[in-house]
Amino acid sequence: MRHILTSEQFDRPFLEWLFQQTDSLRTAFAKQQLGRPLDWSMLFTIFYEPSTRTRISFEAGASHLGMRVVSTENAREFSSGAKGETLEDTIRILCGYKPSVIVLRHFENGAAERAAKVSTVPIINAGDGPGEHPTQALLDLYTIAREKGKIDGLTIVIGGDLAHGRTARSLAKLLAKFDDVQIIFVAPPRFRIGRDIKDYLKRHHAHFSEEIYMFPALAKADVIYWTRIQSERMMTWMPKFMRRWIAMLMQQPYIIGRTELERIREDAIVLHPLPRVGEITTEVDIDLRAAYFRQAENGMYVRMVLLDWVLQ
Ligand code: CP
Repeated sequence: MRHILTSEQFDRPFLEWLFQQTDSLRTAFAKQQLGRPLDWSMLFTIFYEPSTRTRISFEAGASHLGMRVVSTENAREFSSGAKGETLEDTIRILCGYKPSVIVLRHFENGAAERAAKVSTVPIINAGDGPGEHPTQALLDLYTIAREKGKIDGLTIVIGGDLAHGRTARSLAKLLAKFDDVQIIFVAPPRFRIGRDIKDYLKRHHAHFSEEIYMFPALAKADVIYWTRIQSERMMTWMPKFMRRWIAMLMQQPYIIGRTELERIREDAIVLHPLPRVGEITTEVDIDLRAAYFRQAENGMYVRMVLLDWVLQ
């Protein structure tokens, strides 16, 4: 069975195949030549955490491929998880209703792997707490390849809340599979990238460094991958409004606006997995280097290819 649980599982030939398939699929889609190749299948999207892009792009992509879709968008509150049912029991029950694939977002690190252990159909990890978000990283990588024409040899600055940012963690693992990529992590001291990711990069002989200040790093970047401070994952004992207020203060030295754009190379691109909460100002949106809305759109096509792949 083809689960998608972690970026680690993909090798470079797969990634290059994925980029080609995604290009072909979007061409066929634009020419209305796609047909409904997966009309025999059914997608379940089970989301225990909020989502706009991941859930809707999976569901829209599935519908374009002819799949039927069954969805719960607030499973933490409205599934029997709220009554104390274990994730394993929920997945066993859902498999009995004969989906072809389950896309799962959960608030606990390792949840997708636990689900895969008991599932009779492919599980796609759509984000497991502060763990990983492999389909986001695949669409991020596709966007870099599409915008820059290559990945080898690029300098990629990954900034923001790297302690909790699952997209940054998954992307770093994928970048390690390419040659001569320089990763510069930029984060406040308490939000640095995890030791597990640094160990992974060392084991794979990937080049990386860490900075606290963003300006020197931004000037060197071919790709700037910016992320938000994840107030929902920090100091969870505090009231929500206080966490948001602290996050807002912490992000102040890491806001990319018009002034910061002037320090960025003319041929650089700015990516963000989104949502943003002020760390890239809206002034940046009209600059051609701002690629984050194109990146989000790419997500649907990449996920369509992935749905087809897990169902082979
Ligand atoms: N990038 C991302 O995962 O966005 P959503 O939380 O909206 O799905």
